[in-house]
Amino acid sequence: METKRIVIDPTDIDASAISVAAAIIREGGLVAFPTETVYGLGADALSSQAARKIYAAKGRPSDNPLIVHISRREDLFTVARDIPVWAERLADAFWPGPLTMILWKSDRVPPETTGGMETVAVRMPDHPVALRLIEESGRLIAAPSANTSGRPSPTTAEHVMCDMEGRIPMVLDGGAVGIGIESTIVDLTEQVPMILRPGYITREMLREALGTEVCVDPGIIAADSGQKPKAPGMKYRHYAPRAELVIVEGDTDRVVARINRLAAERQTRGEKTGILATDETRSLYRADYIRSIGARSDEDAIARHLYQLLREFDDLAVDVIYSESFATPRIGHAIMNRLLKAAGHQVITVEKDG
Ligand code: TXA
Ligand code: MG
Repeated sequence: METKRIVIDPTDIDASAISVAAAIIREGGLVAFPTETVYGLGADALSSQAARKIYAAKGRPSDNPLIVHISRREDLFTVARDIPVWAERLADAFWPGPLTMILWKSDRVPPETTGGMETVAVRMPDHPVALRLIEESGRLIAAPSANTSGRPSPTTAEHVMCDMEGRIPMVLDGGAVGIGIESTIVDLTEQVPMILRPGYITREMLREALGTEVCVDPGIIAADSGQKPKAPGMKYRHYAPRAELVIVEGDTDRVVARINRLAAERQTRGEKTGILATDETRSLYRADYIRSIGARSDEDAIARHLYQLLREFDDLAVDVIYSESFATPRIGHAIMNRLLKAAGHQVITVEKDG
């Protein structure tokens, strides 16, 4: 299958491009499109057959449910039932935006879309191309991130083409996304709202909007908690680069010294090394490839560049990547959740005397 990549300006959307893409969705086909978080791989959310095509194109396990993307608030009632007032408050505060809510599913949603679960994930994306595609298609669009299962989520149309070329008919290329990590997922079917995946919308922001306590799924906090994450997708070793990835944390000077020593050791063994640094530190390192994720103070830039750099190190075929830690104040929790998973939780903490 030939994959058409159609460039589309989000500030001046070409109606004919959207209408071709919308027709593909209506006919039960797949279209990759930009959202504010990452690129999604969309299909008609209420069609079992269309949903099955998503799993096939991604090589995704069929027990890992999809997020339903909507463009109008009232569509919540099409996909969910027994909707708590919490959902209204969160929609008021954060939609359209990078927040996914887990609610009890309605009978309209086929089991393929929810991976057989009784709940459904819903979000209204904050991207003009995504919203226009949903509207024009007249459908609700189920969309996981548009990567091959196990690879970092795509933040550009090039990334989507790398993974999906030949597997899907169309990619809408709206340029690089704004946020760069996937939406926050909050489960509203529990006694207390529970974050199943951290993202740009933080626990504090949810607390404030709801006026109530919000907890975090214990299954995602520590790798060794022994508890299974409630979002099936969080149990996979996602976002994994092909190289070994090791995070080194501690005081900057010591981190730099330790990473340089470790990289030198690996180079003497004939291995290719990569370092994930910041603007402040990049000139202090020695390795085969050194990349800056952005300024340490600019956490939005760190989030936006993370997946792109993991993909770049894959392309460079490095054997090992050493990364600084990015436990920044606001979205650091979300960034480190992705980075720790990519590293298979390999972290070296440099002690004061070390
Ligand atoms: O930002 C995003 O959320 C992007 C864009 C494209 O919208 N989408 C995305 O989808 O990240 P995906 O499929 O890569 O991740 C969806 C996550 C998975 O971890 C899945 O297990 C979880 O949401 N999920 C979906 N439905 C669920 C449900 N009913 N209960 C618990 N977890 C659910
Ligand atoms: Mg994904």
